[in-house]
Amino acid sequence: MGKCTANPINRPTENTKLSLGHLNLHPPAKWRALFYNHFSMRIFITGFMGAGKSYLGKLLAERLGFTFIDLDKLVETSLALPISDIFQELGEPAFRQIEAERLRSLANRTEIVVATGGGTPCYLENMAWMNENGITIHLDASVSLLAQRLTSGKKQRPLIANLGDEELVDYIGTKLAERSVFYKKSHLQFTVLEAGTNGVEVLAAYLRRFLT
Ligand code: S3P
Repeated sequence: MGKCTANPINRPTENTKLSLGHLNLHPPAKWRALFYNHFSMRIFITGFMGAGKSYLGKLLAERLGFTFIDLDKLVETSLALPISDIFQELGEPAFRQIEAERLRSLANRTEIVVATGGGTPCYLENMAWMNENGITIHLDASVSLLAQRLTSGKKQRPLIANLGDEELVDYIGTKLAERSVFYKKSHLQFTVLEAGTNGVEVLAAYLRRFLT
């Protein structure tokens, strides 16, 4: 699902930029504070629909002994409605409001890996909030890989449910370009490849270094 190489690295300092092959770190100014106060507690996975956020999130949570949380599921549970009905009955702005509220409700949870929705980082200062309250990992996938995956998963995703195959590719291209500005603010960039789960192991091993 992703690839990075496990170069031995030292604990980062505030000014270090680290690169692990496909895993790139851009430490924020308060790097140490993040690692010691937040990083060990909350991990937020960002990225476009179909990037594999839930898949990676579950594996990572398992490896780290953390609880996995799907933000879309939290929203659905809070209203007892599926996402598609929330969009249809209440509209996208209401969905974004509830999504932001549910996200912030995680402030009192610890040791969690959260799969966010594809739009989560792009609304209501959510990206800044996640960066302040945990470590963020962007799952970066190509348009063609996303299109391939989303073709079969359109129905439960209201933003793409009615698009034909070509429209879907155009939509992904346009939206991904807009949204990447937000996704790239994540602390870690993790490139998704078509096959293999080795990257997850490397990522988990890397993160585990900071948990003790
Ligand atoms: C959305 C992505 C979905 C869900 C909603 C809106 C988006 O989550 O939050 O349909 O704006 O990209 P996934 O990324 O888990 O599909």
